[in-house]
Amino acid sequence: MAQKDVGNKVPIYKLKKTHEVMKYYDEWGEGNKYDKDMVDWNYTGPKETSKIFNKHANVKNIKIYDAGCGTGLVGAELKKYGFSNFHGADLSQKLLDLVPSGLYKSLEKVDLNEAINHKDNSFDAVMCVGTFTFGHVKPPALDEFIRITKNSGLICFTINEGIHEEYGFDKKLEELKKEKKWKEIEFFKSDYIASKDVNAWLGLYEVTK
Ligand SMILES: C[S@@+](CC[C@H](N)C(=O)[O-])C[C@H]1O[C@@H](n2cnc3c(N)ncnc32)[C@H](O)[C@@H]1O
Repeated sequence: MAQKDVGNKVPIYKLKKTHEVMKYYDEWGEGNKYDKDMVDWNYTGPKETSKIFNKHANVKNIKIYDAGCGTGLVGAELKKYGFSNFHGADLSQKLLDLVPSGLYKSLEKVDLNEAINHKDNSFDAVMCVGTFTFGHVKPPALDEFIRITKNSGLICFTINEGIHEEYGFDKKLEELKKEKKWKEIEFFKSDYIASKDVNAWLGLYEVTK
């Protein structure tokens, strides 16, 4: 069967440079268009990851770093399960400004392709949903996620199926396993944006560094 051409399914997948991606999201946020599109597209990333996260995270007040939090859709889903200690980080100030007030304890504008400005072992968990995709955040960010997460903490993410191999995420996940930096708990193909025929790998790993 021919390989699915995922890169043609959504316009933003054509962008290559971080400043283009930032501009695109800043504009996408206008008039709440991003959130409206996610409802129209039946984007299920935040729901699917939160469900899996809740299955494995037993303590509700754990400190969670939401990497590429956008408008806070992941925090909103995790809140339904009783989690509340969210710290969001994103490239787009426009999307950060749209996060419902009080939902996150802190919000910061960052480029996740650079070092994360938090000390080692600062968080109990990292969520990264929709952010490992075309032209967005690259595999070395996973080293930073492990660095800022405490031992035995959880890292939960999606990887767009179209970049999993092309960007070397497949190799990076295996390498981190071999180096005993983390242990795979869940890894499966999720719906993600099934309405656009775009699926994502959903991973949940326990830090064992
Ligand atoms: C598809 S959205 C997902 C947002 C949110 N997690 C959700 O599920 O609705 C991807 C997010 O990644 C952010 N992003 C893209 N490149 C980034 C980078 N280099 N550093 C930090 N965030 C980035 C975008 O601004 C956007 O908010």
